[in-house]
Amino acid sequence: MRKTIFSSLALVGALASVSTAHGDYEEYGQMPIVSGPSEITNLFERPILEKDTYVPSFAGISTFAHLPYRQCWEEGSADDYDIAVIGAPYDIGVTFRTGARFGPSAIREGSKRIKGYNMEVGINPFRSWASMVDCGDVPFEPFSSEHAMKQIEDYTKYLLLRPPQIGESESKPPRLITLGGDHTILLPVLRSMRAAYNKPVQVIHFDSHVDTWAPEIYNVKSQQSKYNHGNPLYHAAKEGLVANGTSMHVGIRSSLYDEDDVARDIALGFNIIKANDIFKLGVDGIVERMHEILGPAEDSLVYLSIDIDVIDPSMAPATGTPETGGFLTREMRYILRGLKDYNLVGMDVVEVAPAYDTQAQLTSFLAADLIYEVMSMMVKSGEQ
Ligand SMILES: *[C@@H]1O[C@H](CO)[C@@H](O)[C@H](O)[C@H]1NC(C)=O
Repeated sequence: MRKTIFSSLALVGALASVSTAHGDYEEYGQMPIVSGPSEITNLFERPILEKDTYVPSFAGISTFAHLPYRQCWEEGSADDYDIAVIGAPYDIGVTFRTGARFGPSAIREGSKRIKGYNMEVGINPFRSWASMVDCGDVPFEPFSSEHAMKQIEDYTKYLLLRPPQIGESESKPPRLITLGGDHTILLPVLRSMRAAYNKPVQVIHFDSHVDTWAPEIYNVKSQQSKYNHGNPLYHAAKEGLVANGTSMHVGIRSSLYDEDDVARDIALGFNIIKANDIFKLGVDGIVERMHEILGPAEDSLVYLSIDIDVIDPSMAPATGTPETGGFLTREMRYILRGLKDYNLVGMDVVEVAPAYDTQAQLTSFLAADLIYEVMSMMVKSGEQ
């Protein structure tokens, strides 16, 4: 122990002597004097490093699935990626349990084991034509929902509306994967999608709730409180961000305020596939129904928004408004993979509130795996 301290102190002294002209060890008071140049030189004799290629999945700083971290919003940062993962730790729009601000970090932590070949989709998205980065989290000001929503809109727009990259004649937005956050974040993200694609996207909304509740229901008293996690799709449809008639909710089962909620939802342009439909239709039948609603895959422009509460709370307990009677994880992954031929331009997983998770991190693993499925399809469909 003593020896170690001695040599590191000596090293500091040696460095000082190199970087300053004085080389005066005495200015360090108790420092032992290092006698001659040969001894100093020895201190810099590094071993030859045999680089290890295997890094275990539990090691390392958490980015999504160990993707490289890129400071995407910094001036001069290269925009040359095909898929960008971002976090939006916004949770000030919830009506029940809080805590989804810790969703992005929990999902990243839950994604540590993901790194390889997706047997069902037939691709390894991490060894493909696609370059993927994790941009970290959008700055989030948690004291003003109005400003925080603007931050999400501005920062996602910045990513999507990038200048043309090498080999492109016009600007092509990267695919965007957003880690929520509560469901309010969907509205600013869809505003950016609208700006990037110049037309409304077909939203496939996996959720136990319709999320088209009118603001009046919540007895709103201010401009800010018009927006919460129960109504992003109400506003989005009204703002013309959602393709009317070819968008849908999948997995619906929560209780409603009254039957007007369904009428409002249909008038806003959505179709509903209920969680219970799985009994009659089966998973293949649900996929078929989704295809019918979407129309031809070659003309599609699909955005997937996955509220983790679409899954049964026995398998995804860590969420703000759990509803029993949901899809199982294997059903959900199967249904998702039914979208492999479509043009998936963006996705999010929202409402992961890790404080309610089990010690086994079930919900975080699930959220990460759902993203992995979609990421694999994004890469597969764009294969050259
Ligand atoms: C969607 O289309 C239907 C039928 O054309 C129309 O009645 C409805 O107003 C539209 N909804 C929105 C939000 O544009």
